[in-house]
Amino acid sequence: MKLGTPLSDSAVRVMLLGSGELGKEVAIELQRLGVEVIAVDRYPNAPAMQVAHRSHVIPMTDAQVLNGVILAEAPHIIVPEIEAIATDVLAGIEAAGLARVIPTARATQLTMNREGIRRLAAEELGLPTSPYAFAGSAMELAEAANRIGLPVFVKPVMSSSGKGQSMIDALEDAPNAWAYAQSGGRVDAARVIVEGRIDFDFEITLLTVRSLGADGQVRTDFCAPIGHRQVKGDYVESWQPQAMSPAALSAAQDIAGKVTDALGGLGVFGVELFVKGDQVWFSEVSPRPHDTGLVTLATQTQSEFALHARAILGLPVDVSQREPGASAVIYGGVEAQGIAFEGVAEALSVPTADLRLFGKPESFERRRMGVATARGADVDQARERARQAAGRVRPVAG
Ligand SMILES: Nc1ncnc2c1ncn2[C@@H]1O[C@H](COP(=O)(O)OP(=O)(O)OP(=O)(O)O)[C@@H](O)[C@H]1O
Ligand SMILES: [Mg+2]
Repeated sequence: MKLGTPLSDSAVRVMLLGSGELGKEVAIELQRLGVEVIAVDRYPNAPAMQVAHRSHVIPMTDAQVLNGVILAEAPHIIVPEIEAIATDVLAGIEAAGLARVIPTARATQLTMNREGIRRLAAEELGLPTSPYAFAGSAMELAEAANRIGLPVFVKPVMSSSGKGQSMIDALEDAPNAWAYAQSGGRVDAARVIVEGRIDFDFEITLLTVRSLGADGQVRTDFCAPIGHRQVKGDYVESWQPQAMSPAALSAAQDIAGKVTDALGGLGVFGVELFVKGDQVWFSEVSPRPHDTGLVTLATQTQSEFALHARAILGLPVDVSQREPGASAVIYGGVEAQGIAFEGVAEALSVPTADLRLFGKPESFERRRMGVATARGADVDQARERARQAAGRVRPVAG
């Protein structure tokens, strides 16, 4: 692909569907290569819109509206940043040869539904996963939990970031888990996955990059494993590298290679895995940069966002890590519009610390409004610094 000049006939146009903090970093990387960036989201002034050439505010789950915007903008490449998109439209656009969908329309369809990706991974590819079943009622949920063995995780098949998710360790909690899942699911798909709990030592995100090699063939590269800590289904802290045995690393790369091969296309994938000793289980995969991968802004020669931008444009990538590092999330803490951040100078005085303040127009108590990153001689030092820097930033009502 030839790169051109934005806003001219030679421009390469990329449309981001979803314009959050991850999309913002991808947009910046694309801008650096002279790509024309069109940002789309359901609310105005979303982070990526603030660094794009143009933006559109639409309900991305509305097939007709989404199709209209894509036809009007005629992007060469469409980059989904979130799951809640009318993916049938993407399939139609791709089939008609109107644009490339990253990584593929089918991958976006399979991964937006836990049932699609779990059946692919476990039943078609034979990858190790937690024991699981799908349930369409509170009764089926209780039966599945009983069969699998408590405790179990209950998750709406269409949801992300821990929404509607719960863990139950008694069968009488099944109706509550069912009701909670219904409240947190994205669409009216009244279905849940019931998963047996994996008693892991730690969990990782293995960023896996499919790019074009010098021979024009697709190649797969793996970043160093990222460890992370989740609270209520949301990541609060991540670090790179996560130490693990050579056997576990090789099993992790094998799983990630297989699942990303099956999804196809070009770009970064965040493969989520559970690890215990030398044993590795597949959990889920995002066919896009991963939130825990924000740490790569500090640690890698090319961040996951630079890798994504390069890979989707058919350019070579370098996944090498430079230094151990960590990231720590900065939550809104307050419910307000146009908040301000106090303590930024103090945060940036922590050695090696850096910040991303996403510029989200509205803050909620548990909304991710920024992230602190830091490097260190080892992961422990980097984590300490990132936590310290994040803790010094105090969001206040503007
Ligand atoms: N079967 C399981 N066994 C043990 N822990 C689990 C299991 N399923 C989920 N978890 C825990 O809950 C977290 C969130 O689960 P999962 O990744 O499936 O949901 P999610 O809503 O997609 O979250 P996110 O969007 O943050 O990735 C996992 O990272 C893990 O810590
Ligand atoms: Mg997850």
